[in-house]
Order: sequence, then structure tokens, then C-alpha cells
Amino acid sequence: MFFLDSSEPREIRDIFAWGVVSGVTTNPLILAREAGAADLETRIREVVAVSTGHVSVELTTETEAAMLEEAGVYHAWAPERICIKVPFSEIGLRVTQRLHRQGVATNVTCLMSFNQAYLAALAGGTYVSIFSGRVRDMGYDVRPVIAQTREQLDRERMEAKIIIGSVRHFMDVNESLGAGAHIVTVPPPILRKMLHNPKTDETIREFNSAWAARQGRS
Ligand code: E4P
Repeated sequence: MFFLDSSEPREIRDIFAWGVVSGVTTNPLILAREAGAADLETRIREVVAVSTGHVSVELTTETEAAMLEEAGVYHAWAPERICIKVPFSEIGLRVTQRLHRQGVATNVTCLMSFNQAYLAALAGGTYVSIFSGRVRDMGYDVRPVIAQTREQLDRERMEAKIIIGSVRHFMDVNESLGAGAHIVTVPPPILRKMLHNPKTDETIREFNSAWAARQGRS
């Protein structure tokens, strides 16, 4: 599956019309870049309106009480649609567990290793987000992390789904899916790059030219 890693309502509406995307992820960096001056609630409600599936909104507070309060505010904007993105930490696990017991969807984020992803799944995370690009920035291959996490989730029949984020190239997408990711969250420019292949364009031109030039055309 693909999610869209974006907070741009127009871009999200356009790409959802392709019928290939099943959810949206945002984070504070994406929102600061794309919607710095906008009101967060207004922006997230716009994103919800032009998409389907879960829309992840990340917590920015750092104590358990403040995170649970912040989660309650975001969740109330669209209870069936908002997924609370919880940064991984000891407090993050406690918050994930509490939200899980309340029936609130969570996306445990900023994961760099199998151990973190397994802990996040055990705590009841709906999604566990492993950051491909940032793992590679440290000089490690992310594929064994994805594969080991997927094997463990399957072996224990756990419900958590692996999201791969921090996608920088479209080969990251192919490799993540090949290694066992359930979902890759893709920035719009990278998803658009997947559309194009010069041989496809050439073939379509050849077919359409032949049809236009066919004999006996009235
Ligand atoms: C998605 O859930 C992540 O927040 C996002 O993909 C992180 O990407 P970055 O490493 O390019 O900031």
C-alpha cells in the first residue's frame, strides 16, 4: 500500500484521484515547511476532507500528560480518521499503550531499528514507522530491519503494520516493499516520478500515430 507523506490539500486531492493511495502521513517538519503560517486544525481538516483512510498527526509535546491531552485534541477533529503519531521513547510507549486501550489509532514514529519497531508493536501501535532515509544516513542497510520486523509481526500474528517513511528515491519504495513493508509513505514528487518511463511514452505515441494514420480512414 501507499500512503502520501504530505500536508498539501491540493496535491493530496489530485493524487488520491489516481486510486492508488490509502492514507496520509504528516509530521511537524512537513507542516512547518508546507503550512507554517496556517492553523493546524484547519489544515488537517482540509487534508481529511480530500483523502480517505488514516491521516497521521504527530504529537509535539514531551510529557505523558501533555501528549495524551494533545492526542485528545487531534483525535476529536475526526475520530475515525485521525491517527496519532507518537514519537518513540519510553514515554511514547506509555502513551501508545494508553491510546491503544482507548481504541485510538497510533503510528509510532522515528524508528531506526528492529528492537524499537518490535517494542512499538508490543505496546499496541497500529502502525510502526521505520525511517528508511535516516537509517541509510547512518550508513546502515534498512532492508534487514524491515525484513526482521515483518517476520516477527507475522510469527506472532501481531496486528501492527509497518510503514516505511523517509523515502528519498523511488528505489527506496521498491526495496521497502520487497523487504516486507506493508505500507510505504511517499512524498508526492517521488510518486509522480513512478509514472514516467520513456519506452511507455514512445509505445503509446506509436500506437496512437498508427491508429490516426490507418488506411481507409474516412
Ligand atoms: C513519515 O511518516 C515521516 O515523518 C517522514 O517520511 C520523514 O521523512 P524525512 O526523514 O525525509 O524527514
